[in-house]
Amino acid sequence: MNYKKHIFKNSEETARAVAELIKENAISFDSESRQYNIALSGGSTPTQLFKLLADEYENQIPWSAVRFFWVDERCVEPTDTESNYGVAYDTLFQKGFIPKQNIFRMKGEEIPTDEAKRYSELLDNELPTSNKFPVFDLVLLGIGDDGHTASIFPYNIELLNSEKSVAVSQHPISRQKRITLTGKTICNAKDIIFMAVGEGKRKILQEIIHKELIAQKYPASFIQNNLGEVEFYMDESAAKDLY
Ligand code: 6PG
Repeated sequence: MNYKKHIFKNSEETARAVAELIKENAISFDSESRQYNIALSGGSTPTQLFKLLADEYENQIPWSAVRFFWVDERCVEPTDTESNYGVAYDTLFQKGFIPKQNIFRMKGEEIPTDEAKRYSELLDNELPTSNKFPVFDLVLLGIGDDGHTASIFPYNIELLNSEKSVAVSQHPISRQKRITLTGKTICNAKDIIFMAVGEGKRKILQEIIHKELIAQKYPASFIQNNLGEVEFYMDESAAKDLY
């Protein structure tokens, strides 16, 4: 496991680094008439990225070459404040400069098992596959203080090895149903980036990156691409004391 650490002064600079990566890759893919397929996570961390893309990147990125999918979604209406798509829509997509046909949301309002099946079939139709799983160009992940990522939690860590590409999960505390990419889909991506900012991420990052024994219980510990690589984009506050 090769943890590539990128440390930035603050959360805005961290978001900007990810925005610049998306810009660079989108331009490159567009020049080859290829689609740059990104899977987005929910939670609060990506919101700063969405706002930055909305405010500063409308004219810097060939958006027709960028397609957005989701890592996971809460089983709620898209208009619910809990909806990962809803947050991305309110902060970025409502601006209207990203082609609607390039946005492939998980439908949290549908019956979870039906939606997991539908989204799995959608990924098979829309993305290249390798090792029988869809291939994203970039998966953007967050990390919970219990070591979860996507909606794969310590209690259902077996979703890392599911033969399904998309599964139904449930938050261990709220019991909220979730749709989530499984571990094999996430790890099949070309580039996998964890975004983590703020002091609250410090402990979990140290446990995982320093490969502490407790990290064996964390789904996030086992995320790596087929080259054994995973990247962490962090601010100085989250990355303090990392070696
Ligand atoms: C979700 C996310 C989840 C998130 C982590 C970190 O739907 O909640 O996909 O995996 O990335 O919980 O969340 P924060 O970015 O809010 O810390």
